[in-house]
Amino acid sequence: MKISLFIAPCLAQFALSQTGNWGQCGGENWSGDVNCNVGWLCQYSNPWYSQCVPESDSSTASGSSTSATSTTFSTSASTTSTSTTSTTSSAPSSTTTTSSSPSGYPHTSGTKFVIDGVEGYYAGTNAYWISFLTNNADVDLVMSHLQSSGMKFLRVWGFNDVNSQPNSGTVWFQLLENGSATINTGSDGLERLDYVVQSAEAHDIKLIINFVNNWGDYGGIAAYVNNYGGSATSWYTNSAAQSAYQNYIKAVVSRYPTSPAIFAWELANEPRCNGCATSVITNWVSATSQYIKSIDPNRMVAIGSEGMGLATGSDGSYPFGYSEGNDFEATLAISTIDFGTIHLYPSQWGEADSWGTSWIQAHGVACNNAGKPCLLEEYGSSSHCSSEAPWQAAAIDSLAADSFWQWGDDLGSGDTPNDEYSIFYGSSDYTCLVTNHVAAI
Ligand SMILES: *[C@@H]1O[C@H](CO)[C@@H](O)[C@H](O)[C@H]1NC(C)=O
Ligand SMILES: *[C@@H]1O[C@H](CO)[C@@H](O)[C@H](O)[C@H]1NC(C)=O
Repeated sequence: MKISLFIAPCLAQFALSQTGNWGQCGGENWSGDVNCNVGWLCQYSNPWYSQCVPESDSSTASGSSTSATSTTFSTSASTTSTSTTSTTSSAPSSTTTTSSSPSGYPHTSGTKFVIDGVEGYYAGTNAYWISFLTNNADVDLVMSHLQSSGMKFLRVWGFNDVNSQPNSGTVWFQLLENGSATINTGSDGLERLDYVVQSAEAHDIKLIINFVNNWGDYGGIAAYVNNYGGSATSWYTNSAAQSAYQNYIKAVVSRYPTSPAIFAWELANEPRCNGCATSVITNWVSATSQYIKSIDPNRMVAIGSEGMGLATGSDGSYPFGYSEGNDFEATLAISTIDFGTIHLYPSQWGEADSWGTSWIQAHGVACNNAGKPCLLEEYGSSSHCSSEAPWQAAAIDSLAADSFWQWGDDLGSGDTPNDEYSIFYGSSDYTCLVTNHVAAI
């Protein structure tokens, strides 16, 4: 079943019930409610964004910084428009998680992670494609291989944005077209992600689920820009795009209110804002992570960023710099961000593979300073074992977990996506980077 969520009803929804705690309450072109609940104040973040925050937390509240302006959006009926309560107005999932204490879910303890009550260093991997597989047995095969390998967590894409509806049989999660957003909850939609979560539960694998791509594959920010206008850099402050993005997040998060398989929610894959003040991404991380915590206070939230923009231990090279609009330490300090994420592709950044160890160690110092764990979330070299094994050793020394890019497997019907970094189950690189690594941990 497909569910159409037109932006006008969506904003109306925000006006009626969502400008509650942590909701948006003002900003340029904001047409929703500007009032917050009793005990909460509308706090100005930037010209594009004001937010309801607890009175006790707010220092510079400004409840009337922006008056509501009426904006007309198309509200014409669509053949796919379906009234629903599950996606557009479900209660916050936190109200249904009474059977598990928050500490039952994966959480942090100082600079370490705790999974199933065990604090330690954890190894995982990436398989962005697993939520797009259409055969349940393929999902189960990968999960069983991960489990027997001693991998504890898997990072997957929780997004698949398109600007026109694909032929049936092609998996897509959100259609962004004609200024509207349609979330596909059907069998070629989020039911595919549901099965990944179900299989992860059965195989005791924890998932990091990511909500949007900075890059154009599987839609990404560009798919929002095509639908709502603006640019890749104004996306972070475009209220129509952010409303759709938050609505999509709520649709996904609300599907798994008590699943033990969720390790963390993740804002975006490698968010960048080239040439922007770092405050743009920092404000967006703050607003989005607070929003996720407001609907699911029990799960961890991370950014999915590459770790760029770091003064601590900087050698002045491009990745340490701020040109892509990221400030690693400022975003890690945000209270609703539970841990830091770091990616490592020296060959794409004009660095030698051996440089990677200094990147890991510099972030380890910053994470210790912040008192939060950090995950070496993606790393890859076409040299595989010889370059990546030293990175893994450095990560064990400096960080809390690592997950290489990316898992490879033979599904019988064919191999999973094989980019130059894939590590195939059972290969000699697998022995080096999985078997030996898990043994070292
Ligand atoms: C967008 O508009 C085109 C042309 O009118 C129409 O064919 C298509 O179904 C529309 N898509 C949505 C999601 O409303
Ligand atoms: C607000 O609306 C104006 C006019 O449509 C547009 O030029 C501007 O980019 C919008 N601002 C934001 C932040 O979306």
